[in-house]
Amino acid sequence: MSEKNTKQDKNNLMEKIVSLCKRRGFVFQGSEIYGGLAGFYDYGHYGLAFANNIKNSWWKKFVDSRRDMYGINSSIIFNPKVWEASGHVTGFLGTTTDGKKFNEMFKTQVGVGEDALVAYLRPETAQGMFVNFKNTVDAFHPKLPFGMAQIGKAFRNEIAPRDFIFREREFEQMEIEYFVRAEDWEKYFEYWRSEMLSWMEDIGLDMTKVHELEVGDGDRAHYSKRTIDFEFDFPFGRKELYGLAYRTDFDLKNHKLDHIDEEKSEKIIPHVIEPSMGVDRSVLALLLSAYTEEVKDGETRPYLKLKPNIAPVICAVSPLLKNKPELVEYANTKVYAPLKAEFGRVAWDDNGNIGKRYRRQDEIGTPFCIVVDFDTLSDDTVTVRDRDTGEQERIKVKDLKNYIKERIN
Ligand code: GAP
Repeated sequence: MSEKNTKQDKNNLMEKIVSLCKRRGFVFQGSEIYGGLAGFYDYGHYGLAFANNIKNSWWKKFVDSRRDMYGINSSIIFNPKVWEASGHVTGFLGTTTDGKKFNEMFKTQVGVGEDALVAYLRPETAQGMFVNFKNTVDAFHPKLPFGMAQIGKAFRNEIAPRDFIFREREFEQMEIEYFVRAEDWEKYFEYWRSEMLSWMEDIGLDMTKVHELEVGDGDRAHYSKRTIDFEFDFPFGRKELYGLAYRTDFDLKNHKLDHIDEEKSEKIIPHVIEPSMGVDRSVLALLLSAYTEEVKDGETRPYLKLKPNIAPVICAVSPLLKNKPELVEYANTKVYAPLKAEFGRVAWDDNGNIGKRYRRQDEIGTPFCIVVDFDTLSDDTVTVRDRDTGEQERIKVKDLKNYIKERIN
């Protein structure tokens, strides 16, 4: 294949993903009816479910299943002194094409008139953890090493927002600040590197497209002594997906915070390892990892090969014909309602013929489509169609819950 063709295919792939996102209710351009606003996007019902599943999987692995992690949900606007101490007022600069420097933080105003305070929308969730370090220590008395975790919005006045939800001006981050003794930083840097890789596999990223880049001197953020970028082969190039940084004691020191090491009875400033991951880039990289086209009998079937724990919908329920009340009644009360109560992420789909419904659910990434037909009325079995193979099985209605549970595990 020529280089030109390859480039064309990659552009096509991005176009396909963007149009699938709109068509199937994942991601819409922000303020679309007014012509949009560069760098802002809105998540529709399925995109939201998808992003929530990613965030839940992250929280479960890095917070709920651990004993050493403390969650926080800090405000987005802080006292501006936070950003002076963190170095962002002087150091968080973007360079324009004509070489001018400007600060990437969005400015806003708190209060009115002459007393109004110039404040900023946070450009990273990280500082929300540093400014709550003392509160967390006083409330929970953790011993080193321990971490703080936050999922939330961040805002950057990016000079060139581009590539759909890859580079936005409003986005979401999942960040951990892990506090360690200075002498232990290398050990925990390696530990978090492998934890990050293991979560990437858990959610179903195409690991052949993930690469590590040791970020050189001069290219790292102002607070970092070592950074590894986890890059992903996006259709528009190999770009940063996530970052892992050794922030030293830079932030706690600048906020004049310290910690009493109970074991050694001494005051120390812990050092920080920071795994930082974007929700929106996870969404995009997962869509690109999962997008598959199967060509059969001259027809192309696009589908999202998402893991069931991440897919927006676990199963869709359809009456074969929507104008047959006995099928609709059965499907609704005996199949949809109990599955919905069990799994939550269950769709009711009676729009168009069965072929169209399968096509739609394939593009949403729904692992199982369940159809109630005339046989169901006499033998209490339904058809369950597998998204990846297209194969269908007849399953007893009373066994459906367990069947799905077994299949998703
Ligand atoms: N606290 C460290 C920090 O913010 P970063 O590398 O600037 O580090 C961390 O950002 C992650 O946030 C990135 O790896 C990426 O996943 C996501 N991210 C950063 N800027 C973004 C943007 N403009 N649009 C979407 N995601 C972004």
